[in-house]
Amino acid sequence: PASTTRLPAGGLAVAGVPLTELAERFGTPAYVLDEGEVRARCRRYREAFPDGEVLYAAKAFLSRAMVRWVREEGLGLDVCSAGELHCAVTAGFPPERVLLHGNAKSPQDLRTALRLGVGRIVVDGLSEIARLAAAVSPGDRQRVLVRVIPGVAAGGHPKIRTGTEDQKFGLSAADGSAQEAIARILGQSRLELAGLHCHIGSQITEAEPYVVALRRMVGLLARVRDTHRVVLPQLDLGGGHGVAHRPGDPWLDPAALGTRLRAELAESCAAAGLPVPRLEVEPGRAVVGPAGVALYRVLAVKRTGERLFAAVDGGMSDNPRPALYGARYAPCLVGRASTAPEIPVTVAGRHCEAGDVLAAGVRLPGDLRPGDLLAVPVAGAYQLSMASGYNLVGRPPVVAVHEGAARLLVRRETADDLWSRDVGE
Ligand code: LLP
Repeated sequence: PASTTRLPAGGLAVAGVPLTELAERFGTPAYVLDEGEVRARCRRYREAFPDGEVLYAAKAFLSRAMVRWVREEGLGLDVCSAGELHCAVTAGFPPERVLLHGNAKSPQDLRTALRLGVGRIVVDGLSEIARLAAAVSPGDRQRVLVRVIPGVAAGGHPKIRTGTEDQKFGLSAADGSAQEAIARILGQSRLELAGLHCHIGSQITEAEPYVVALRRMVGLLARVRDTHRVVLPQLDLGGGHGVAHRPGDPWLDPAALGTRLRAELAESCAAAGLPVPRLEVEPGRAVVGPAGVALYRVLAVKRTGERLFAAVDGGMSDNPRPALYGARYAPCLVGRASTAPEIPVTVAGRHCEAGDVLAAGVRLPGDLRPGDLLAVPVAGAYQLSMASGYNLVGRPPVVAVHEGAARLLVRRETADDLWSRDVGE
């Protein structure tokens, strides 16, 4: 996780900056990102896939600084809307290193992608092929991948499993629609089929499902060669590598995954008599999740029935993951030494619904009181990027810490920001 150091009197520092100081300077709630940790994670991925391509999945968290770190560390970028693409490119990301996803790409998504010169577009359905080809200027060729459903069930929650037939992403290899898409793309002079793609799910903590998917994808590459006499040079296995939110939780080590997948790929390709395609992965959570810490101030403490509630100044509007996926976190008290025994506490948010709970029954000192500061580690992914304007609370700021210094990356959203879009009478 973020490079934290314990300080005397219950203090905690990230990249050498005490969290109490950050709470003082930037207010709470706030999200703290350890720049060195993000960069180190990018580098570990580059080393794990030395002859492949690592594309950071921007949906996990996107900001100008993040775009720069990812670019400087040599990763590509996976985006899934004109908005993400536009932000990345205006922040200086080379469009040719961007991959566009989407199961329902809007005309604007496609127009923006073609106008900015996005490197590759992932075809997710039969109906978009002719539409995409028609949008490409005469004389141009757009590189595409075909997203295939490999028939592998994996992922930390049913809502984030994407490797099987009964979900909306990709083209089935079992019913032949993936093969049909491949044939149609090969027949389009304005499209160039660069390879195959699959993404089996998210928060996956074992290598095995990826190995199964890889073998099936190589099988399909061999069929493409047999049917069309075409050898596709790229194989993208998507993202989904799990992180540990609490001490002791399982997680997927990119180095071990890289070693395993590269060996499997070499073996499967040799068996099929295929040249080894460029292996690609699209990690989002594993790059940025562990580098983030969320900071909250306790506003109220109360006992109702058997439960002790500590209500904080953020909640489901900055982190919808507990409510959406039953995600579990491990908040800790910072900035004050407590000798009180730990008891089960439910850390609740400030929003107007009972389901707004950030962490239920976590162990915290029994003398927790208003004014206390709570830090939630491993908070960098899919929290702010899925944050909402619920109750007009406004999204928290993002602060980068690096080598003992802090700087604001994204300012706090105010109720006025949210309200200013309301132009009706
Ligand atoms: N590639 C594709 C095509 C994806 O759909 C995703 C995530 C990724 C890569 C990156 O997956 P990662 O490495 O971050 O797991 N909001 C959910 C996660 C949704 C993931 C959606 N797709 C959550 O908070 O758990």
